Amino acid sequence: MSFRKDFLWGGDVSATQVEGGWNEGGKSPVETDFMLGGDRDTPRYGYYQAPDGTIGKVRQFSGQMPKGSKFIIKEGEFYPNHKATDFYHHYKEDIALLAEMGFKAFNMSLSWARILPHGIKGGVNKEGVEFYKNVFTECKKYGIEPIVTFYKYDMPAFFIENGGWSDKSLIDEFVEFARVSFEAYKGLVKYWITFNEINILTMTLNSMPNATQEDKQRMFEEQHNQVIAAAKATIIGHEMSDDYQIGCMIAGTFTYGLTCDPKDQLASQKHMQTNFYFFADAMMNGEYPYFKKRVLDDYGVTLNVSDEEKELMMKGKADYLAYSYYSTNCITTHDEGEKVQGNMLSGIANPYLKQTDWSWQIDPDGMKYFLHELYGRYRKPLLIVENGMGAFDKLEEDGSIHDPYRIAYHKEHIKMMKEAVDEGVDLIGYTTWSCIDLVSASSGELRKRYGFIYVDVNDEGNGSFKRYKKDSFYWYKHVIETNGEEID
Ligand code: BG6
Repeated sequence: MSFRKDFLWGGDVSATQVEGGWNEGGKSPVETDFMLGGDRDTPRYGYYQAPDGTIGKVRQFSGQMPKGSKFIIKEGEFYPNHKATDFYHHYKEDIALLAEMGFKAFNMSLSWARILPHGIKGGVNKEGVEFYKNVFTECKKYGIEPIVTFYKYDMPAFFIENGGWSDKSLIDEFVEFARVSFEAYKGLVKYWITFNEINILTMTLNSMPNATQEDKQRMFEEQHNQVIAAAKATIIGHEMSDDYQIGCMIAGTFTYGLTCDPKDQLASQKHMQTNFYFFADAMMNGEYPYFKKRVLDDYGVTLNVSDEEKELMMKGKADYLAYSYYSTNCITTHDEGEKVQGNMLSGIANPYLKQTDWSWQIDPDGMKYFLHELYGRYRKPLLIVENGMGAFDKLEEDGSIHDPYRIAYHKEHIKMMKEAVDEGVDLIGYTTWSCIDLVSASSGELRKRYGFIYVDVNDEGNGSFKRYKKDSFYWYKHVIETNGEEID
């Protein structure tokens, strides 16, 4: 048998993309509650009011509001994350469906704004704590191991209005959020992830052609504050329970050189160092990598890491590396190739790969290639969280959904993952993005579907919210039943 007996087969969701109940149960609004829907070519944005009364638009993750601005909700607009796919009211039914598929693990995130809606000074919201306790208890009932991320794009909005991660006091806020959760869910949760895709800041920066030098400096400092917050939370978690496994999570920004010109290989290597390894090394090795200065120089920024922070990073190293793997892109120094998208990443199309409807390239071989690269580099357990394809699905009259493309996508990836495991990579689990249909993070679309479970709601928010099993539901169930031995 290739996969270990306790292999964590499962799927993912995130609070803001699936829960809804945006203003229920004592939760305060989060950034995405103010974001409208976009589409594959139009980024999402939301409105804010500046202190001088002017109304401005802000892009998701950009953190670019004049000081003192407030997010606003515009009457008559549709905000997809407000109801999302309504896990908040359907969680029992949803978890029962995951259990029917035989899930061993459910990778989800907590909404900070449910647990500490108004920060430390506002106190713990019991109703929010209780909600997740119910979710975990429901998982345990079926023997499903929750894998819990603290921070996944849904920080309470008032923190952002007050300057977000630039403010170092947010480190204590985050650590308290983690402490409360470690305490409340002892015995229910073992696997934790501090930040989802902590490398997103440089990717955001790369997509901001007009970023000022000040923006760059600020964003690196914000990034560093998150690294420190993660280290502190990891230290506290380990002190609170020997059982806790606390990982980091990096967005798989994987690239190849487009041609065999060594200059293309160097460009790809540099890209990987800047966008992936800079953060992965910091969290897995407990220190920024040896090429730190080159990265900082490229952006023209400085980063002061105090001795105390160095110590924290070393003490608060992650136990395992979780990462998302959707696609790969190519990098070239030549003036050739068609531009393509990826997960927060654009690059050059690889002529050997097919693409999804959203132009993300499908690369199962790359799955194996990077499993080896990462395991060779860190020699610590790996966890693939988030592998999947966004697609248009059609609900048939009889309630079936035929999604052979999704089955093919996962099948090919699992096949290559299996080869890597057979060759010695220590992979502890595979959780797919997603398992239940949800709101797309980048575009806010609902029609960009990733789940094995279809949710009847469209891009205008209309629908019955009824759940349906896609063909992939039955296929994945069999994969799990056979511990990945039978995937055809
Ligand atoms: C990952 C995010 O980067 O990509 C998820 O962690 C997101 O939140 C996923 O949903 C897929 O991206 P998108 O834009 O298709 O939702």
